[in-house]
Amino acid sequence: MSPILRGQVIFCFLLASVTVVDGIIDRNSIVQQYNLQLNRSHPYSPVQVGNGNFAFGVDITGLQTFLPHNTLSSWGWHNSSLPMTPNQTKPEDYTGVDWWTHNRLVNYAQPNPKEANISQWMIANPHRINLGRVGLWFGDENVTEQSLTQKTQWLELWEGRVSSSVTLHGSKIEVTTIASPDTDTIAVSVSSDLLHQGGLSVFFDFPYATGENKFDAPFVGLFNATSNHTTALHTEPNQAIITHTLDATTYVAQVVWQGDAAVLRLKEDEHKYVLSPGHSVDKLKFTVTYAPQATNTTTQFEHVEEAAKTWWADYWSYGAFVSFPIASNSSAYELQRRVILSQYLLAVNGAGRDPAQESGLVNNGWYGKFHLEMVFWHLAHWVFWSKWDLYDRSIGVYNRFLPSSFDRAKKQGYNGARLGKMSDPSGRSAPGSINSLLIWQQPHPMYFGEMEYRSFPTTATLQKWDSILTGIADFMASYAFLNESTKVYDLGPPMYPVSENTKPNATMNPTFELAYWRFGLDVASKWRMRQNKSIPPTWTHVYDNLAAFPVENNTYVTYEGITDMWNTPEYTEDHPGVLGIQGWLPPDPQFNESIFENTIARVHETWNFPFSYGWDFPLIAITEARRGDAERAVAQLLDVNNAFDEVGMPVGGTRVPTPYFPAASGLLLAVGMMAGGWDGKEGMTWPEGWAVEAEGFVRGM
Ligand SMILES: *[C@@H]1O[C@H](CO)[C@@H](O)[C@H](O)[C@H]1NC(C)=O
Ligand SMILES: *[C@@H]1O[C@H](CO)[C@@H](O)[C@H](O)[C@H]1NC(C)=O
Ligand SMILES: *[C@@H]1O[C@H](CO)[C@@H](O)[C@H](O)[C@H]1NC(C)=O
Ligand SMILES: *[C@@H]1O[C@H](CO)[C@@H](O)[C@H](O)[C@H]1NC(C)=O
Ligand SMILES: *[C@@H]1O[C@H](CO)[C@@H](O)[C@H](O)[C@H]1NC(C)=O
Ligand SMILES: *[C@@H]1O[C@H](CO)[C@@H](O)[C@H](O)[C@H]1NC(C)=O
Ligand SMILES: *[C@@H]1O[C@H](CO)[C@@H](O)[C@H](O)[C@H]1NC(C)=O
Ligand SMILES: *[C@@H]1O[C@H](CO)[C@@H](O)[C@H](O)[C@H]1NC(C)=O
Ligand SMILES: *[C@@H]1O[C@H](CO)[C@@H](O)[C@H](O)[C@H]1NC(C)=O
Ligand SMILES: *[C@@H]1O[C@H](CO)[C@@H](O)[C@H](O)[C@H]1NC(C)=O
Ligand SMILES: *[C@@H]1O[C@H](CO)[C@@H](O)[C@H](O)[C@H]1NC(C)=O
Ligand SMILES: *[C@@H]1O[C@H](CO)[C@@H](O)[C@H](O)[C@H]1NC(C)=O
Repeated sequence: MSPILRGQVIFCFLLASVTVVDGIIDRNSIVQQYNLQLNRSHPYSPVQVGNGNFAFGVDITGLQTFLPHNTLSSWGWHNSSLPMTPNQTKPEDYTGVDWWTHNRLVNYAQPNPKEANISQWMIANPHRINLGRVGLWFGDENVTEQSLTQKTQWLELWEGRVSSSVTLHGSKIEVTTIASPDTDTIAVSVSSDLLHQGGLSVFFDFPYATGENKFDAPFVGLFNATSNHTTALHTEPNQAIITHTLDATTYVAQVVWQGDAAVLRLKEDEHKYVLSPGHSVDKLKFTVTYAPQATNTTTQFEHVEEAAKTWWADYWSYGAFVSFPIASNSSAYELQRRVILSQYLLAVNGAGRDPAQESGLVNNGWYGKFHLEMVFWHLAHWVFWSKWDLYDRSIGVYNRFLPSSFDRAKKQGYNGARLGKMSDPSGRSAPGSINSLLIWQQPHPMYFGEMEYRSFPTTATLQKWDSILTGIADFMASYAFLNESTKVYDLGPPMYPVSENTKPNATMNPTFELAYWRFGLDVASKWRMRQNKSIPPTWTHVYDNLAAFPVENNTYVTYEGITDMWNTPEYTEDHPGVLGIQGWLPPDPQFNESIFENTIARVHETWNFPFSYGWDFPLIAITEARRGDAERAVAQLLDVNNAFDEVGMPVGGTRVPTPYFPAASGLLLAVGMMAGGWDGKEGMTWPEGWAVEAEGFVRGM
């Protein structure tokens, strides 16, 4: 959607598919009930301020004084030097691996053992960088979190402001921390008698980056590799510009302060700087703006404070909202807490120029790269909550990545455009044995396009998605392989289904992917009809002759030919993708209710839920809601294996470090569908006795 005024969005969705009881909920008072109040730092779960493209994690001091929490952005990335062996290898020398695929060789972006070092380099580069650390500086005194008393910290959600207060030697230190909604700026105010007594200043430090850790968590970067990078200080009245250079990556941190203070480098060969106030100062206000290049603007604390206040009040006020009056049920408090804190955290971590990373801007999962199959889980909730402007920030990724997707398909001998998987902002997909064989990311644009068209049935929407849907549908049709003896189109082998736990050379016709292929081709065909364009006959032929769902023992199973699925532990863990055909997707023409009932019963009996990922619970919740079992839907959202910690971070499961944001975005998606309904189901799906008020939700398919 081209940028549109929010007033128009609200106007449009009122006309379109919604359940609305508009403007009756007292949102401000509900949001404020869930303000964080903390008394200690959390190593894996920083309190954050941010704007979707930039986030700054803080410890109990409101800065990064004791814990080097991260400052991550959409634009800050770094390449390590290319492998030394063989000498002068370049990314262009990486060739992938050829596998026989239905009687022809297809090139897959797998790690190539003969090209091991450049393969690994392509996986680990570029990686997202930690832009720098800002903390309280106590000079030579060894102050630890334990030496402070009266520690309290508030996150005020409606204002987007963190207020921290600690006491050192009887003197209070009060810190306010705010992020700008417009630039990658933090605004900080420090008040304390210790400032003019000379015992307190503020430091800035800059780490080096490496691609050594797939999960660089909880802290990103190396502060002790000081000889591998450089910083340079340029000062002007009331501002300092620190230029940080890590190999080919250069950016600036611009520090702007009010009143009498100065920035000095602490030690010649290190990258630590101190902002020291003059003797009369008892309140130090400053901003730090991180940017690829210096600008002339000097951003003041008050400017950021005002802009953040306006942005956050607006964020909470427009689009959808749901209220679970607490008196109605004790679980309601916890569900409301998860919903409100997820809304805050996703605006900070999951609303950037690129689709979100699973750990957002908290730390670096998968080197900070994002995954195209996860775009559904990261972005769909914005649609249901009618926050189209935030969805719009990154949905352009499909257009941006279309040329490289056409190249990928062509190189493999397919028609159309094949989306990649683990991506950096350039659209390059990292080599990976699973990465190159997943296929469920392909129909996501059909899902998003269709949801958008339902709310905005305009020529502009049709044009926006036309070449994307056509390119991807062409790939999907050409990927499906016509077996001449059965006259059926098969998906795979080789491939990985949603659950990445099968043997790719044996995996064909996975249940979920079959449904999603039919769904995607159907939407792409409707798209052509809406524009009076002809439907390519191959799309129709594939749609009509795609393999039937694999059924064993009267249940749907992960893929055709899987042996003894329900009694085999390796097949009853990971994502229960098979359930996605009822709930996540609207009903498939082949859907059989009694087979599905057997299937969901087997999942509940056999699944290894402690080993599940965070979005598996909302996935099942949506399925349960679609079946009409609201009790079990809510139970999934509050499942013991689906924890949200004190800071509101989705813990995410046992396989990845906290946080794992698809659990939060999946929660909002599930709640959105349960509040907004879907075709054939007007109204809400909540357990008996729950008093729920909802407004502004968009109806699902
Ligand atoms: C800190 O907060 C925790 C959890 O809210 C609480 O149990 C504990 O008593 C608090 N500690 C202090 C010293 O206030
Ligand atoms: C990393 O290297 C690739 C070339 O392989 C280049 O396209 C990209 O721009 C580089 N990124 C950074 C942040 O230097
Ligand atoms: C790599 O090759 C270049 C050009 O041949 C040479 O100058 C350089 O010394 C070589 N480096 C190593 C580490 O062998
Ligand atoms: C799959 O089959 C190809 C041959 O077509 C083979 O090269 C490859 O190693 C097999 N992969 C696995 C994981 O077994
Ligand atoms: C990768 O690099 C290591 C040294 O870093 C070298 O021993 C090894 O031979 C290289 N592997 C390949 C396949 O070039
Ligand atoms: C500071 O004090 C803490 C706790 O007393 C101690 O563990 C740490 O080693 C000290 N650090 C320095 C640099 O002296
Ligand atoms: C540098 O710091 C990292 C942790 O950030 C540590 O693992 C490493 O051992 C340190 N290296 C040196 C040379 O001190
Ligand atoms: C820093 O540079 C030195 C010398 O080039 C190199 O040996 C070392 O591996 C580098 N450290 C990191 C963390 O890249
Ligand atoms: C910065 O200031 C100079 C003059 O002081 C002006 O020419 C230039 O356009 C300004 N740049 C920006 C980005 O505002
Ligand atoms: C076609 O399907 C039959 C029956 O399932 C199977 O035996 C055969 O291997 C398939 N042919 C190809 C080329 O995949
Ligand atoms: C179907 O059930 C039978 C008996 O329990 C079992 O032996 C067989 O492996 C099952 N088939 C599948 C595909 O699960
Ligand atoms: C709250 O609702 C859940 C889900 O319907 C139900 O299982 C639970 O018993 C209810 N608790 C109370 C105290 O009513």
